[in-house]
Amino acid sequence: MKYVKMLTYGCQMNFSDAERIEGELKKLGYEATDEMDKASLIIINTCCVRETAEDKVYGKIGEIKHLKRKNPDLILGITGCMAQKEGDRLIKRAPHIDFVLGTNKIQQVVSTVKALSHATSKHIVDTDINESDMPEDMQISRKGELSAWIPIMYGCNNFCTYCIVPYVRGRERSRLPEDVVAEVKEVAAQGFKEITLLGQNVNSYGKDHKKASFAELLEMVDSVEGIERVRYMTSHPKDLSDEVIEVIKNSRHICKHFHLPVQYGSNRMLKAMNRVYTVESYKELVAKIRASVPDSSLTTDLIVGFPGETDEDFQELLGFIEEIRYDQAYTFIYSKRSGTPASEMPDQVPDDVKHERLSRLMELQNRISLEINQSLLDSVQEVMVEGPSNTDASVWTGRTSTNKIVLWSHDGDEKPGDIIRVRITQPQTWVLKGCRI
Ligand code: SAH
Ligand code: SF4
Ligand code: F3S
Repeated sequence: MKYVKMLTYGCQMNFSDAERIEGELKKLGYEATDEMDKASLIIINTCCVRETAEDKVYGKIGEIKHLKRKNPDLILGITGCMAQKEGDRLIKRAPHIDFVLGTNKIQQVVSTVKALSHATSKHIVDTDINESDMPEDMQISRKGELSAWIPIMYGCNNFCTYCIVPYVRGRERSRLPEDVVAEVKEVAAQGFKEITLLGQNVNSYGKDHKKASFAELLEMVDSVEGIERVRYMTSHPKDLSDEVIEVIKNSRHICKHFHLPVQYGSNRMLKAMNRVYTVESYKELVAKIRASVPDSSLTTDLIVGFPGETDEDFQELLGFIEEIRYDQAYTFIYSKRSGTPASEMPDQVPDDVKHERLSRLMELQNRISLEINQSLLDSVQEVMVEGPSNTDASVWTGRTSTNKIVLWSHDGDEKPGDIIRVRITQPQTWVLKGCRI
């Protein structure tokens, strides 16, 4: 038996790629393992969206050096966004790496590992992005049995000035609707109950091939028998269409959760970030969503410490957050990515100011999250059962359509995938605790 250990960092797209890499490697007889020591192939599937993500990867590459000394046949590969960005610089820095495959080369993993297993010379690097190559027909080794990732488009054309993703994932290209629907039917037949459609900017789906828009694709997957919940990410506020809102409103299975990354709450910063919308147009969009889908939740991503951010901008952001009242916000400190326009901008914000702003923002958001969750006290929520929680096997966990995590005492007959009713008795900032009814 041969084993592969994969370490994956970054976003859901990377986790979805990892499932495909592991699936393909089965063709060579590799089984997945969690133990580094057992593996004869280690692949680090990397992210470079922030410097901290890259630091973690360099740390891991360093740790693996001693394993290679113990087992000279061990193959170490780097895939994902940092592989795309750094290419053979990675090998120059750490010659114990055997191969580097870019983001559009995951289909090559089998031929690469095969070549390295037989060759005496090592080191294969391939980071070409040929945007006409669509990774279809790959074997997939899915994690879990309930929830499946389904990529619908690759790449990004938006070039937000802080962001490295368009440089490492290439231009937008959408899968054909029939391929997406076939994959959804396949996972439904395998017993999966929830799907998450993935893309950097799902609202642009189909703008290239014009075979279906995102709204039309949502309608198609909503009607696949057996799928109880449909999620998607990420949605860029600049092109969330009325049709999409209408489809969600009338759908049976599309979750009432809008993740709509705003990134900032002042027009000056939004312009500098090249986000295209304004604070006013974003607020109108939120009002439209809340009017059409009243019980929906709203979450966002925010960046503090973008170059040129002043105290006034930051105050405006806090006011904006108070006004919108997000259910949750994923807050990040701006990280300079070389090659992006923002990295060259003057007035980079000092680290201590960034940290101070982040903690004030988080404090405000946590208060709002708690207040919103407290308003759910005594309400009855429909929860899709996931299984025992990590800390206590008698306490089970699941999520609402609005993507809130619910915890309750397991009473025997509920199984993963069931939709049960839970009365909320103890709402907290991050979770809702309750009793099954
Ligand atoms: N395509 C998605 C997001 C991909 S990256 C979207 O547009 O929403 C996920 C999040 O990382 C972004 O929403 C942003 O908030 C954050 N991010 C991206 N680049 C960053 C950087 N240079 N520094 C800090 N955070 C960043
Ligand atoms: Fe990055 Fe902006 Fe594209 Fe999202 S939309 S991946 S933040 S460039
Ligand atoms: Fe990271 Fe690449 Fe995703 S940079 S966030 S893994 S697209």
